Amino acid sequence: MKVTVVGAGAVGASCAEYIAIKNFASEVVILDIKEGYAEGKAMDLMQCASLNGFDTKIVGSTNDYSKTANSDICVITSGIPRKPGMTREELIGINAGIVKTVSSSLVEHSPNTILIVVSNPMDTMTYLVHKTTDLPKHKIIGMGGALDSARFKYRLAEALGAPISDIDGMVIGGHSDKGMVPLTSHATRNSINVSEFMSEERLNQVKEDTKVGGATLTKLLGTSAWYAPGAAVSALVQAIACDQKKMFPCSTLLDGEYGLSDLCIGVPVILGKNGIEKIVDVPLSDAEKAHMAESAEGVKKTNDLLEF
Ligand code: LAC
Repeated sequence: MKVTVVGAGAVGASCAEYIAIKNFASEVVILDIKEGYAEGKAMDLMQCASLNGFDTKIVGSTNDYSKTANSDICVITSGIPRKPGMTREELIGINAGIVKTVSSSLVEHSPNTILIVVSNPMDTMTYLVHKTTDLPKHKIIGMGGALDSARFKYRLAEALGAPISDIDGMVIGGHSDKGMVPLTSHATRNSINVSEFMSEERLNQVKEDTKVGGATLTKLLGTSAWYAPGAAVSALVQAIACDQKKMFPCSTLLDGEYGLSDLCIGVPVILGKNGIEKIVDVPLSDAEKAHMAESAEGVKKTNDLLEF
């Protein structure tokens, strides 16, 4: 199993690190345009191998896509991250050009790859990859929901004073401050709906804190987060590499599912060796349905800014 991560910044390096630590891939290639940077990150990470007990070989490359050839899975993290006060949508101008170039170079060298898009605005960048590469739709996956769901579970556990292992929940919709739809109707503590344990007001606060999860960290860190995004990517990569058939919310091209078409947005999917093996239809409350429709409108508005 060969995995390529494009972008050796904080998110890309965290992806590579978590993938290596989980020890299921034979090789991880990190590629960056900055001379020597990916090679440096790869060497530093390789020097963790004996300490952290992994055998994954990590290779760095300065923009040489021949080193990525025949990757089973490629992850695109390249582009600029947001600064405090910015929305993910504001990154579209610069990131669209980068994602278009990177995805076509990756597919040229790995025509059978599964591609995971992390660059923001992620749902629109995932749609762009659909429009500009020949990859089938089950092989193009946007990473947002797995991260947003992890942030939702963190906030639920905090509100309940419960361990994370007691909590289950998902966030669907667009990966944006307004577009995320935390599914409170399905969130549970040990199989009991979380609304049994907290007031509606507290649950609404959890929802709002979840939606601005990335923005809160950007304000604290001065740039966007990397540990949880890296861990979320590594979970998707592992589900595919190990054919786990696990369910994650991922951004995928919809064709009538959830009453939506011709956009990529986060919905629950089953991930296995073929990429997105199934889109799962879960019942939503009326409020969640309305929020999902609004979220889709927001994603479509950002998609309209794309030039192919
Ligand atoms: C975040 C970025 C990865 O939410 O979109 O932290």
